[in-house]
Amino acid sequence: MKSEILRALREAGDGFVSGQALCEKAGVTRQAVWKNITQLKEHGFVIESVQNKGYRLVSSPGIFYPADIESRLGRDCLFHKADCYNVIDSTNTRAKQLAELGEEEGTLIIAERQTSGKGRRGRQWDSGAGTGIYMSMILRPVIEPSSVPGITLVAALAVVSAARQFCNVETFVKWPNDIVLDKKKICGILTEMSSEMDYINYVVVGIGINANNEHFSEEIEETATSIYLQTGQKTDRAGLAACIAGCFSRYYKEFTRARSLGPFVDEYNSVLANKDQEVKILYGMQEDRNKTETGIARGINKDGALLVDTGHGTECVVSGEVSVRGLYGYV
Ligand code: BTN
Repeated sequence: MKSEILRALREAGDGFVSGQALCEKAGVTRQAVWKNITQLKEHGFVIESVQNKGYRLVSSPGIFYPADIESRLGRDCLFHKADCYNVIDSTNTRAKQLAELGEEEGTLIIAERQTSGKGRRGRQWDSGAGTGIYMSMILRPVIEPSSVPGITLVAALAVVSAARQFCNVETFVKWPNDIVLDKKKICGILTEMSSEMDYINYVVVGIGINANNEHFSEEIEETATSIYLQTGQKTDRAGLAACIAGCFSRYYKEFTRARSLGPFVDEYNSVLANKDQEVKILYGMQEDRNKTETGIARGINKDGALLVDTGHGTECVVSGEVSVRGLYGYV
């Protein structure tokens, strides 16, 4: 009910919504509206109430709150439920626990801080309080397990699109799924799944965004940055998280319908940081661990593989099998 009240207030923008209209939208009594507005105020929402005019949302608290996130999700959005934590080990771990317990597709897990934030390849993800966005999405796609890496690319496109829409910043994708701003990383994506040979139980897509971080540890300060450090603007994290969920929902529906990245190849290649850049392919996860090759990255194909011109042909670099480093610097 709180999310319906907040949604109605948000839809009115700077305007007021009468108590009666709120009752109708939320399907409750005036007393229930008043009680819920009081509780929202206790949680840090500033809501003005004026006799004969009604209520107006002045501001939201700077922390994640389920009804706040839910009220910002479109009615046709895949996500409809937000589970918010002040502190958690890892939103991906929590999402997997919930998925094991039967949680449906469409739940978001969001935290202010993670004590064991996980990065790809066993690395950790810096997850300090109140600065970043740590979010995971529970999905149950009906696709081949081998197509799941494509969901990570879909998530990368969603982040780029949301950063443009919500923060007015142009970000790029370092294949397959790091998001960079001015050649430094602002976002990482970790996709995990539970599957049988030919059936997916669930997929969890975890997204970590450096939104309002003012500094980074010595270890990563050369390669990491935040939206705040690059733009000087603090981001409304709940708004950006909801915007990412909305963008992801649209791309994901199209991806699962098309069962390929075909509809997004041009869009992805237009924001590909490595495009036409010299890259070094590290085959670290394959048998020949020391093998490397250099070439010019040309873009992805409909399966999400990176096409690299090596001078003696085009190498199709498959997501998850190799990593690509720019020859000069991180990108
Ligand atoms: C990477 O670039 O290595 C991936 C980083 C993914 C971090 C996010 S933060 C939210 C979610 N929970 C985790 O423990 N990890 C992901």
